[in-house]
Amino acid sequence: MVLCEYKPGLEGIPAAESGISFVDGQKGILEYRGIRIEELAQHSNFLETAYLLIWGELPTQDELKAFEQEVRSHRRIKYRIRDMMKSFPESGHPMDALQASAAALGLFYSRRDLHNPVYIRDAVVRLLATIPTMVAAFQLMRKGNDPVKPNDDLDYAANFLYMLTEKEPDPLAARIMDVCLILHAEHTMNASTFSARVTASTLTDPYAVVASAVGTLGGPLHGGANEEVIQMLEEIGSVANVRPYVDSCLERKAKIMGFGHRVYKVKDPRATILQKLAEELFAKFGQDKYYDIAQEMEVVVAEKLAHKGIYPNVDFYSGLVYRKLGIPTDLFTPIFAIARVAGWLAHWKEQLEENRIFRPTQVYKGVHDVSYIPVAKR
Ligand code: COA
Repeated sequence: MVLCEYKPGLEGIPAAESGISFVDGQKGILEYRGIRIEELAQHSNFLETAYLLIWGELPTQDELKAFEQEVRSHRRIKYRIRDMMKSFPESGHPMDALQASAAALGLFYSRRDLHNPVYIRDAVVRLLATIPTMVAAFQLMRKGNDPVKPNDDLDYAANFLYMLTEKEPDPLAARIMDVCLILHAEHTMNASTFSARVTASTLTDPYAVVASAVGTLGGPLHGGANEEVIQMLEEIGSVANVRPYVDSCLERKAKIMGFGHRVYKVKDPRATILQKLAEELFAKFGQDKYYDIAQEMEVVVAEKLAHKGIYPNVDFYSGLVYRKLGIPTDLFTPIFAIARVAGWLAHWKEQLEENRIFRPTQVYKGVHDVSYIPVAKR
């Protein structure tokens, strides 16, 4: 007997009660623990935001200082992890490298003491601290270079850019990267967060939780859209080609990358923030034609699709910003993961607080009473 209607993708079905983030897709509101994303982007930094998401309240000055210091002092990865990563094929996708490395981290910390706040804090610190190091290390090693050691003088985002590019970043670039991390840190019950909660509900370790969420984020329907935005802008190639490109997509009923959102029916508030950051970045480091193409796309797509609630989403501008920061396209999703670790860990902790293992049901549509045919007779 089917007790309730089956919804593909569980669309609209609550999978948890949560106090972590809130989205109003009609009004274009996103809040982390009740605080508007615009306020956090303007005044907070990524580690403070991560603390807010995970522990539910903004830290005091002392708490923040201690937390930042703990994360800073745990940024190095073990030589054995580095050696393992060195043996990964350089042609492999960095998301796969990250998933394997996050899972491998759990091998070194196999004790599970899930109700001990000290264990929880250690795991949070270790994962937040080392995920960026692992992303940067894979990037350098696949180019045949040795990874760069974390720089203790630099803040979280600046240190990440430093490890990635082997030089100290411009302060504006570092601030913009930090805001990008804030904007991607959490977004209610998306696929990777659901995956994190399902994994958490089995009471496995947090490294497995993050590894499973990284695997889920890697697919093109979730984390990969900003890579596709860049490919699309490159394909369009010039401002003059924008209108014909959009028209041809609409004729073919093809989706225009970076536009539309399952929840937001107005402009994604994160896209508005990112657009301003992109303007600052391009003003300081020079315009490029892809930014001009993007601006023209926003105008043309609004003309054609605003009546359907289709506006730019967070992925439309994030790819442009990362590209301008000199980041290779296939690192865009790993950067999303660096940020989203904060949200996943918040959901891990929340899941443990009132845990019940996920065990949904199914609608069986197979056959019954089929006789086994011996292999010789098939
Ligand atoms: N380009 C052109 N048309 C779009 C569109 C886009 N990016 N997104 C939605 N539409 C149109 C649909 O064709 C549909 O039109 P119809 O009613 O005439 O059939 C209508 O808007 C509703 O779209 P629907 O597919 O039902 O929306 P959704 O909520 O299921 O999809 C997305 C949301 C995000 C999957 C979708 O907008 C999309 O694929 N966007 C591009 C990929 C992307 O940027 N993903 C990142 C999301 S953060």
